[in-house]
Amino acid sequence: MRKLILATVAAVFMMAPAAALADEPIVIKFSHVVAADTPKGKGALKFKELAEKYTNGKVKVEVYPNSSLYKDKEEIEALQLGSVQMLAPSTSKFAPLGVKEFEALDLPWLFKDDETYAKAMKGPVGQYLFKKLEVKGITGLAYWDNGFHMMSANRPLIKPADFQGLKIRISGSKIADQYFRNLGSIPQIMAFSEVYSALQTGVVDGCENTPSNYLTQKFYEVQKDITVSYHAHLQYAVIVNSKFWSGLPPDIRSELEKAMAEATDYTNSIARKENEDALAAIKASGKTTLHYLTDDDRKAWQTAMQPTYKWAKGRVGQEVLDLISKELDVKMN
Ligand code: LMR
Repeated sequence: MRKLILATVAAVFMMAPAAALADEPIVIKFSHVVAADTPKGKGALKFKELAEKYTNGKVKVEVYPNSSLYKDKEEIEALQLGSVQMLAPSTSKFAPLGVKEFEALDLPWLFKDDETYAKAMKGPVGQYLFKKLEVKGITGLAYWDNGFHMMSANRPLIKPADFQGLKIRISGSKIADQYFRNLGSIPQIMAFSEVYSALQTGVVDGCENTPSNYLTQKFYEVQKDITVSYHAHLQYAVIVNSKFWSGLPPDIRSELEKAMAEATDYTNSIARKENEDALAAIKASGKTTLHYLTDDDRKAWQTAMQPTYKWAKGRVGQEVLDLISKELDVKMN
């Protein structure tokens, strides 16, 4: 009898860790570089809310905003290694992976408005680009919008000549590198988390970004002049480690897909308003001067940046340019 009791107790103890493990939620670490109070930041929190609700707590999403877990370059590497499961980098940041085609989306004045951008990404262009990530062990789940870039420096940037000799921070894209060179500037890749102090100390003279990022990172406090140029678009690819994603129980994965689809609709529906509100807040702060381009100024920027289109072919390849050109019904050179 005593033996039986001991055996039973031992069996219960041996099973206990397994049972406890079975009850442990699946953890998704979702790392990103922007503030929580931005379209991407809010989208990540919406995904967390819906994912935890739809899986009845079987999945726990830990969101790490503001580069609190990884900076730009490190985060994609960490995703491939499986140290983090989900990211939403700007599509300008895939080149270190050897995937350059995304940079086509950085061409200046490619999308004439928000609707054109949204249409392009829902169609074959978005699918084609996600396919490029598969061989890297990365699965693309969604595209999240963050509107159009403004330009800033400690001088008004109105004519192309105003860019001459300025050191401009860029996020990673060689297309952006090229259009700033076309304007006579010296572009410099730098992690997002380092931009504020680089602007403040004069390591760089200027940068480009969207109103929500200017506001939440306080770039507008250390830049005397901002041009509301909307010359290029900022979008994110929400990505996961493929091995992790395909290893999930199918019922859990489908709930997460539902959560992601809804979080994507939500994020893309708030992006424009968030950026309009951010621009209004920057204006109201009185800490910087906003400038707007006339049609002639805009044409002068476009003409100056035009060589980037020809150059892009050698960088991103004809295939993606053809796809975009067909989808948007625009000429690409
Ligand atoms: C940047 O580095 O400027 C952007 O990618 C930041 C972001 O994710 O919005």
